[in-house]
Amino acid sequence: MVQQQPVHAAPTSEAELVLRIRDLHTYFYTVVGVAKALNGVNLDIPYGKVLGIVGESGCGKSVTALSAMRLVLPPGRIVKGEILLNRIRREGDTYTVLDEVNITDLDPRGHEIRSIRGREIAMIFQEPMTSLNPSYTVGNQIVEAILLHQDVSKEEARDRAINILRRVELPNAEAVVDRYPHELSGGMRQRAMIAMALSCTPSLLIADEPTTALDVTTEAEILDLMRELQAQMGMTIVFITHNLGVVAQMCDQVAVMYLGRVVESAPVDDIFYDPQHPYTQALLRSIPRIGSRTKKRLEPIRGVVPDPYADIRGCPFHDRCSACMPGICDVRVPAMSVLPGKVGHEVRCFLHSDAYEGDDGHVA
Ligand SMILES: Nc1ncnc2c1ncn2[C@@H]1O[C@H](COP(=O)(O)OP(=O)(O)O)[C@@H](O)[C@H]1O
Ligand SMILES: [Mg+2]
Repeated sequence: MVQQQPVHAAPTSEAELVLRIRDLHTYFYTVVGVAKALNGVNLDIPYGKVLGIVGESGCGKSVTALSAMRLVLPPGRIVKGEILLNRIRREGDTYTVLDEVNITDLDPRGHEIRSIRGREIAMIFQEPMTSLNPSYTVGNQIVEAILLHQDVSKEEARDRAINILRRVELPNAEAVVDRYPHELSGGMRQRAMIAMALSCTPSLLIADEPTTALDVTTEAEILDLMRELQAQMGMTIVFITHNLGVVAQMCDQVAVMYLGRVVESAPVDDIFYDPQHPYTQALLRSIPRIGSRTKKRLEPIRGVVPDPYADIRGCPFHDRCSACMPGICDVRVPAMSVLPGKVGHEVRCFLHSDAYEGDDGHVA
């Protein structure tokens, strides 16, 4: 199906979604048991927007990203679900959907997923050294990425590499191109990694806690840069973070994850001003509000995240939830349901809907 879409229109159909994740289950089969990292993740990633994924450490944010790139390594495995990528060609202010690929069907070491990585979906990590190779210069690595996906000469690729280093505002790009990663500061390395990710103008950039390891000043600079590049290039970004302040600055839409599921999904303002899931509300009470005049005390979320090996009955949040309804919340898993009168606001909680998931994942 070939469809022309304006770049900045609000998403209304599947053709306006770069990526759709449906009922994704990813497990790790370890010697101590099965770690159920993802238990039915659903996500819609609209074209040209920034989607934030938030949640406490261990809730499955990174495994979701790695699953989409098919970079989950044994003993981990995608056991169920679909990851559907719309391959897109951009021309000026419009884009054309070329075809749809089910990423879960691909061989993780095959040619097709390798051509998707970098060109369609690029990823940047918290620690730049996980994607930058210490034994090659920054320039060589960017040139290599360009040559892998684009039909240009080595000289042309080097010029493009210098250009992209300028674009991420690295001072003295002509010199930095010949430097090794260890010769750069943390902030510069992060810029170099963003440059590498952008070098093939991917349709989707997944940024997994890209600023967590940086000091606050450098973090603010990198966030500004990403926002600017996103606006200029109309790029789609999935921004993974446990920092809600960063979400407020960066994101259009937010998905809140808990124990391998999305429990609330809404436009960023609704998440901050009208959160509905008791977990989202607790998460918000646990962080400082920038600019808040009231001197409300921060409240840590009570209890701890259950370990992913445990078999939990009912809503995975019920034993930490102050609104838990015994006999209901500890029996069944609530299904995601749309809040009446709201656009794009969904929540998985029995306070809002009686819908629950059957054993086979079907909504009853
Ligand atoms: N290689 C692995 N082996 C076993 N369990 C893993 C592995 N990688 C991730 N997990 C488990 O998957 C869950 C989700 O992890 P992750 O996606 O990294 O969380 P986060 O939201 O902090 O990014 C965690 O409980 C983690 O222990
Ligand atoms: Mg992580």
